[in-house]
Amino acid sequence: MKLERTVSGLRRELAGAPRPVALVPTMGALHEGHLTLIRRAREQGATVVVSIFVNPAQFGPREDLAAYPRDEERDARLAAEVGADLLFVPPAEEVYPPGFDSRVEVGGVSAELEGDPAHRGPEHFRGVATVVAKLFNMVGPDVALFGQKDAQQALVIRKLARDLDFGVRIEVVPTVRDRDGLALSTRNGYLTAAERERALALSRALRAAEALVEGGELETDRVLEAARAELEQAAVVPEYLELRSAADLSPAERVDGEVLMCVAARVGPARLIDNVILRAPAEPTLDTRPLTGAAT
Ligand code: PAJ
Repeated sequence: MKLERTVSGLRRELAGAPRPVALVPTMGALHEGHLTLIRRAREQGATVVVSIFVNPAQFGPREDLAAYPRDEERDARLAAEVGADLLFVPPAEEVYPPGFDSRVEVGGVSAELEGDPAHRGPEHFRGVATVVAKLFNMVGPDVALFGQKDAQQALVIRKLARDLDFGVRIEVVPTVRDRDGLALSTRNGYLTAAERERALALSRALRAAEALVEGGELETDRVLEAARAELEQAAVVPEYLELRSAADLSPAERVDGEVLMCVAARVGPARLIDNVILRAPAEPTLDTRPLTGAAT
């Protein structure tokens, strides 16, 4: 695996590289979620590029930019083990040189949930879209992989790629969880053992909703209530707990088609997010309906 820190070095490396080129953008502190994305990229790309950049533009002034864990040596070892060909680790000045003064703003889905000023606010996805657009231009990938763990981010990036004709296929990889259900996240590292136990309420809440929907409950109020009860039991107060269309985050009136249940909550020092796609059970077809009053 090669390591590059400059855009010119990256471009030189990629000039004759075999295609397709698959890109996995990360902020480092790699865990099994990231590694799953890289393995998937390995299956799809002839050349796999992993970027590590803790992007200041997507952190709010009261967020954890300074505390965000950094361990390049460990990340490089892990990325190489799962098959990355090229690790791109630019310093901040390479991405945002003096005089840099542009922002990419994706409309629609960016303003909801995490983008709401009551939560992370509009700067967050502006920062994400700006750095991802730059990475797309720097790398010129054929495919780029993102995690369903950040469902809204994946929607923002799909829209970015489509609206601005980046010509890159966006692949979204299912959320990787610990055995106990907790979605893997760098920010889980901020939790004490007791806080981690409380954090499990997030995935339990999503599972409770999923079980109810699988049983045929399609009323959003009841589904939300089941999830809320799990959070309450662990004294976790959600920043939001919502049912939205999985396609465009518009409010879901009922569990019709694919509905995204998403939750954000602070547990101790960590702000955690998680989500699940709920699918109403398929209507039984005539053939599988139990026969009643069949002639004997
Ligand atoms: P980061 O939080 O490092 O995540 C990098 C990628 O890994 C994202 O696509 C994220 O959705 C995915 N990921 C994280 N945890 C996961 C899990 N448990 N299962 C599956 N995928 C998971 O997201 C970012 O960085 C940044 O916003 C970035 C896109 C790099 C732009 O700065």
